[in-house]
Amino acid sequence: MRWTGAALELLDQRRLPGEISYVVCRSAAEVARAIREMVVRGAPAIGCAAAFGVVLDRGAPEAYEALAASRPTAVNLFWALERMKRAADLEAEARAIFAEDIAANRAIGAHGASLLPRGARVLTYCNTGALATAGYGTALGIVRAARDRGVSVIACETRPYLQGARLTAWECVQEGIPCTLITDNMAGHLMRRGEVDVVLVGADRIAANGDVANKIGTYTLAVLAERHGLPFYVAAPLSTFDFATPDGDAIRIEERDPAEVTDFGGSRWAPEGVRVRNPAFDVTPASLVSAIVCEKGVIERPGRERLAELRAAARR
Ligand code: MRU
Repeated sequence: MRWTGAALELLDQRRLPGEISYVVCRSAAEVARAIREMVVRGAPAIGCAAAFGVVLDRGAPEAYEALAASRPTAVNLFWALERMKRAADLEAEARAIFAEDIAANRAIGAHGASLLPRGARVLTYCNTGALATAGYGTALGIVRAARDRGVSVIACETRPYLQGARLTAWECVQEGIPCTLITDNMAGHLMRRGEVDVVLVGADRIAANGDVANKIGTYTLAVLAERHGLPFYVAAPLSTFDFATPDGDAIRIEERDPAEVTDFGGSRWAPEGVRVRNPAFDVTPASLVSAIVCEKGVIERPGRERLAELRAAARR
């Protein structure tokens, strides 16, 4: 995303990888619509875009309302809006949120790289790269940081919205990171054959007990990882931690348009009249998470106690 001082220019992620085009937002309502319609997506990127949205409307109460109503699950959005409410200089605060996210991602990369063995084949999900953040990326940032150690990516396509096939694969190809694309239902097969070393994903909200909400299908991968004795790592900045939410059951899961399941790119494959569910996220219980990597370091076997320690450390 590019902030010009008078507008927020968002790389239109709906059109990737086929087309590079930007949506120009000049009001909070336009930013809110861009978030809702997935022009910009990914928890940290949504938070940054919302902060600039507040600047565009000079902190008007309606701006906060419109942005808060755009998407419910990623807590970074609400975290950014709270920070903006307390800010004396709105533009400086939005710029700080943006810059701090890149710094957090680089720190996550440095901490997380040590978790990846040389030559590790890293199965990842959704898109957690530069597109999903202010820059660099969380889980994909760790891969970036470890790329000189010969790591490679297995990108799950991530039905129904295909963030893995469209965005993660695109980022890897752009950067020359070795990447193999699979459909989501191939993950177990590859794990059973010993072709995956690590599962590494991002998060949209981490509850106080370490439960992780992330893109729908993440829970399935965590169960598979446990079954195959593979480490399951989550990478996320502190802006993704929600210490006010006690556990994953209390996290609101966004339900999106059924057309995302029945159609893609204007082509429909399901019969008219069929009932459809489209929850956009799921919750992975903390007991399935080997470690969470944040800018403060690696939290092994995360649970309520470890996260309370992290919260106290983050306040210092
Ligand atoms: O619906 P999306 O594309 O916004 O969902 C994004 C994810 O689930 C990501 O894994 C998460 O936001 C982490 S991005 C660093």
